[in-house]
Amino acid sequence: MTFLQNAAVLFMFAIGLSSNAEARTVLVTGSSQGHGLAFINDYAERGWTVIATTRTPATADRLQTLANKFSNVVVEELDVTDFAEVDALAEKYAGTPIDVLNLNGAINTFRVGRNTHGETDYTWLEQVLRTNIIGQLYVAEKFLEHVAASDQKTIAVMSAVGGSITNVRSSMAPSYRASKAGLNMLMRTYGEAVKERGVIVAVIAPGTIDTENYMAVEDPSTLSERDQRMVAANAYAPRHAIGAMIDLIDGLTLDDIGTFHKWDGTTLPW
Ligand SMILES: NC(=O)c1ccc[n+]([C@@H]2O[C@H](COP(=O)([O-])OP(=O)(O)OC[C@H]3O[C@@H](n4cnc5c(N)ncnc54)[C@H](OP(=O)(O)O)[C@@H]3O)[C@@H](O)[C@H]2O)c1
Repeated sequence: MTFLQNAAVLFMFAIGLSSNAEARTVLVTGSSQGHGLAFINDYAERGWTVIATTRTPATADRLQTLANKFSNVVVEELDVTDFAEVDALAEKYAGTPIDVLNLNGAINTFRVGRNTHGETDYTWLEQVLRTNIIGQLYVAEKFLEHVAASDQKTIAVMSAVGGSITNVRSSMAPSYRASKAGLNMLMRTYGEAVKERGVIVAVIAPGTIDTENYMAVEDPSTLSERDQRMVAANAYAPRHAIGAMIDLIDGLTLDDIGTFHKWDGTTLPW
């Protein structure tokens, strides 16, 4: 973005805030598809001021469509592994309270990449851990002041049911599960570090949500084999799980930082 474009975005942002003093602000990472895109839609519908980040704004067509539809959505570029980019975005929004920092963007290795013991691609594993653990903490630390300055003061961390060590029953998806288990510990300890500032760090497992209309798809044969198996096994959470998570996040208090939450309000073992 040029300086003038940057200034225009911030001006629009300030106007949006002043015209709706009650509006809370959320920043969601990884917003171009899946859960992230659904979060943007649902937060925007609820009237929040939404900062939707994606690694690739230029090709994030569905996100751009939402941004055109909702004047309360601003799209920003962010790769959580690019520390300079995180620094620049945190600086750009310095002084802007962010009620909810939704750490959604991650490498979902159930969808992409190699992920089997015996065939470990260590370069890939490193990338998964860097994205799903290290980048998450970096964003949380760089946006701490924005969150601490808000009313809601919440960092919502999207983990996974597969991150529960207690629930391991097979060798499936080790890199993904390790990344989420590591994320859980890092955010659990970060929550202890920042609770004195009133900042709530909550770990939530969203489940596999029907964000791409798997269950309602007109022609199920167009789904991948895996998705067809998931649909047959009734393994997708309903689309309204995103709204349920927004409600869950809104109701969190500092008493909840020791809990591994599931999207439906139940508790998972760590
Ligand atoms: N769907 C599931 O089955 C499931 C189950 C449990 C937990 N989760 C968790 O829920 C979250 C969303 O999952 P999803 O199903 O929506 O996954 P998804 O469709 O694969 O989308 C994940 C998004 O993460 C973003 N991302 C990837 N690398 C990134 C990076 N380096 N920096 C910033 N963003 C990055 C990408 O967004 P951009 O392209 O916009 O940058 C990508 O679209 C993830 O944390 C995932 O682990 C998902």
